[in-house]
Amino acid sequence: MDFSRYPAEPFRIKSVETIKMNTREERLENLKRAGYNTFLLDSEDVYIDLLTDSGTNAMSDRQWAGMMVGDEAYAGSRNFYHLRDTVQELFGFPFIVPTHQGRGAENILSHIAIKPGQYVPGNMYFTTTRFHQEANGGIFRDIIIDEAHDAAIDLPFKGNVDMNKLRSLVDEVGAEQIAYVCVAVTVNLAGGQPVSIANMREVYHYCQQKGIKVFMDATRCVENAWFIKEREEEFKNHTVAQIVKETFSYSDGCTMSGKKDCLTNIGGFLCLRDEDLFTDAKELVVVFEGMPSYGGMAGRDMEAMAIGLREAMQEEYIEHRVKQVRYLGELLTDAGVPIVMPVGGHAVFLDARRFCPHLEQSQFPAQSLAANIYLEGGVRSMERGIISGGRDKKTGKDHAPKLETVRLTIPRRVYTYAHMAYVAQTIIKLYKHNKDIKGLKWVYEPKQLRFFTGRFEEI
Ligand SMILES: Cc1ncc(COP(=O)(O)O)c(C=O)c1O
Repeated sequence: MDFSRYPAEPFRIKSVETIKMNTREERLENLKRAGYNTFLLDSEDVYIDLLTDSGTNAMSDRQWAGMMVGDEAYAGSRNFYHLRDTVQELFGFPFIVPTHQGRGAENILSHIAIKPGQYVPGNMYFTTTRFHQEANGGIFRDIIIDEAHDAAIDLPFKGNVDMNKLRSLVDEVGAEQIAYVCVAVTVNLAGGQPVSIANMREVYHYCQQKGIKVFMDATRCVENAWFIKEREEEFKNHTVAQIVKETFSYSDGCTMSGKKDCLTNIGGFLCLRDEDLFTDAKELVVVFEGMPSYGGMAGRDMEAMAIGLREAMQEEYIEHRVKQVRYLGELLTDAGVPIVMPVGGHAVFLDARRFCPHLEQSQFPAQSLAANIYLEGGVRSMERGIISGGRDKKTGKDHAPKLETVRLTIPRRVYTYAHMAYVAQTIIKLYKHNKDIKGLKWVYEPKQLRFFTGRFEEI
């Protein structure tokens, strides 16, 4: 192991959870019962669980200690003030509204900031984010650079906004028809790709001239900051915490899923700069989430989140985190397995179009590849392609994204390099007999967010 390339874990393990492997016959049985949807597998039947990095983090001894000082008062919990003060200090926003998780914040933001018929340009869609925008009458427009839709192109900031796309949308519909610009840092569905500070600055300055607000999806802002430190000359001597603060200085607020870069298992929040919007958000949080001092979280969860957010900014932690993901990606590319390049912050994305060249997108290659990875070695991943894309609300047609991928998402502080090597070995083995992967067809297609609970069978 080259430790200069892949630093050893900056933690030692105090508590463990047993995982076990089952037989191929059992896995086939489980897969059929789950309708070839890895979301419908039982956790007990999975050996290495790379379904998501959301809420699957291992908490530290300090976070667990923090849970013991949870103040479970209905209103005015001291843990809320700890969380609020931490977020104010680290993100630089004056107003914070806690929510049960990220989509709770997206729901409130979409309610208060979108008028029906307005556009919401964003650097690629995200499932829950677009759902809430559309549910509130917004029209999503993708303004990410074209290269982000091509799995093979290797660029340092593949999550950047294309300024020409943003400018031409504003020229076409008028600034008053733009609800706000949504900038995600990093971009999940592009492969966890980062956005540069230079790009954020340009977007924000342009939007300020036009009177358009910018809200960020802050979900993986610490991972984004690490890439900026690595790749953007101006910031190579900055701390990750300084870069995170700089990031948010180019926005009017953000939504945060605490289940990722806050190193917790549940929680989220909405940040705002504008006091009137804050008042509107507080009126809604009591309807959807709970009092403005807990927003759907227990006091102990807010405490764990406040501590976790600070831990996430430690350089040793975030360097190991990003490089462990890169290690898995490099094992796969060294063996010729096609993945989305470059490797992003939270996951390695397999390029299912090239992994299964014998399948059409209408045969759901990524959904089937995820199912077959489980069958091959008990590793759970998820589809990020045509199934996740959903249908167009107006035409009813599939969105059919260019990227047809399987996401191997690495939980934070949970697995070791040996686990990554096992995952790589399983996938390399499967790639050698990729032609055995069959296409799938729908058995049950849910109307919303169909990837979570949809069921399939082999063609
Ligand atoms: C980029 C991004 N935004 C928003 C969300 C929604 O957050 P949550 O799952 O906490 O509701 C997620 C979660 O997967 C995400 O990856």
